Amino acid sequence: MITTRLIVDNNVNKTQAYTQAVEKLIQGEIVAFPTETVYGLGAIATNEQAVAKIFEAKGRPSDNPLIVHVGEAHHILKYVKDIPQKANDCIETFWPGPLTVILNAIPNTFAPNVTAGLSTVGLRMPDHPIALELLRRLGQPVAAPSANRSGKPSPTTALHVEKDLQGRIPLILDGGATGIGLESTVVDFTVDPPVILRPGGVTAQMLRDVIGEVIDPDTTTVEDETVPRAPGMKYAHYAPDAPVFLIEPDHEAVENAITSIHMKHQKVALLAPDEFKQYHADWFFSLGNQQNLETSARHLYAHLRSCDDTVTDIILVTVPIKTGVGAAILNRLEKAANGNWWHS
Ligand code: TXA
Ligand code: MG
Repeated sequence: MITTRLIVDNNVNKTQAYTQAVEKLIQGEIVAFPTETVYGLGAIATNEQAVAKIFEAKGRPSDNPLIVHVGEAHHILKYVKDIPQKANDCIETFWPGPLTVILNAIPNTFAPNVTAGLSTVGLRMPDHPIALELLRRLGQPVAAPSANRSGKPSPTTALHVEKDLQGRIPLILDGGATGIGLESTVVDFTVDPPVILRPGGVTAQMLRDVIGEVIDPDTTTVEDETVPRAPGMKYAHYAPDAPVFLIEPDHEAVENAITSIHMKHQKVALLAPDEFKQYHADWFFSLGNQQNLETSARHLYAHLRSCDDTVTDIILVTVPIKTGVGAAILNRLEKAANGNWWHS
């Protein structure tokens, strides 16, 4: 299969790009497109065969459900049994935007492989002009996971998508780099208080400001075993080729780690704020200013991917503070590192 990448900007015929994408989707094909978080790989959510192509192209385990994307918030009324007040308040506040709401689905609304057999569905309205235009022209819900090969960091540019899925999908809409750089916050509203299943750009505090108590398993000690876990999170995620180790953003610790790696005649790539550049890692990828978590989030996946273009033996990443978007960054880093911390 030949993969076409169409640049969607003011200089080309945008209409033609959207028409081609809509045609492909209606024919039961899959199309990659940008959202404000990461690139998604979409299929019409009612077409089981089309959705199956997503799992196949990504190499994704079939028990990992997909998020359904809508172009208008009110469309979800047709798909879910009820919308609790708290979910409604969050939708009004954060949509379009990086919030996925888990609600009870009306049975047989979506293809069974979208929800991996669950009675619930994750829904979101993305805040990206290309995603919204595509969804509105299509007029149908689109199931879309991140457009990466399963296990790899999510794509934040069309070139990342091309690298992973070249020859496996027919079309990529190229809208340049995505803004947020981490996947949406996933919140389960089928329980009360709602539970954050995956932290993201909409932070726990932002949710609490709107609906009060929210359970955040990443920062709260959850003893109640009935608290749902995000399906699919058990699988390897965001993993570059070389092993990732986390380290506190402490100058002495980072310097010692690099020295001891070099003493073993190994090479090290360092992902850290600018101020760590001086320590002679073999490759340095800047996470920007230590205080600016948004910049770290935006560049994180691209940097993890860049490590695959080096011959490094080890990837060291300094962890952010845990507040705000830092919680989402740390969540992804812990998965990329498979929980491994550097010990000298
Ligand atoms: O920002 C995003 O959310 C991106 C863009 C493309 O929209 N999409 C994305 O999809 O990250 P994906 O497939 O990589 O992550 C979907 C995750 C699943 O792994 C699962 O953890 C959660 O969303 N999820 C989906 N449906 C669910 C459900 N019914 N119940 C609980 N969790 C669900
Ligand atoms: Mg993903």
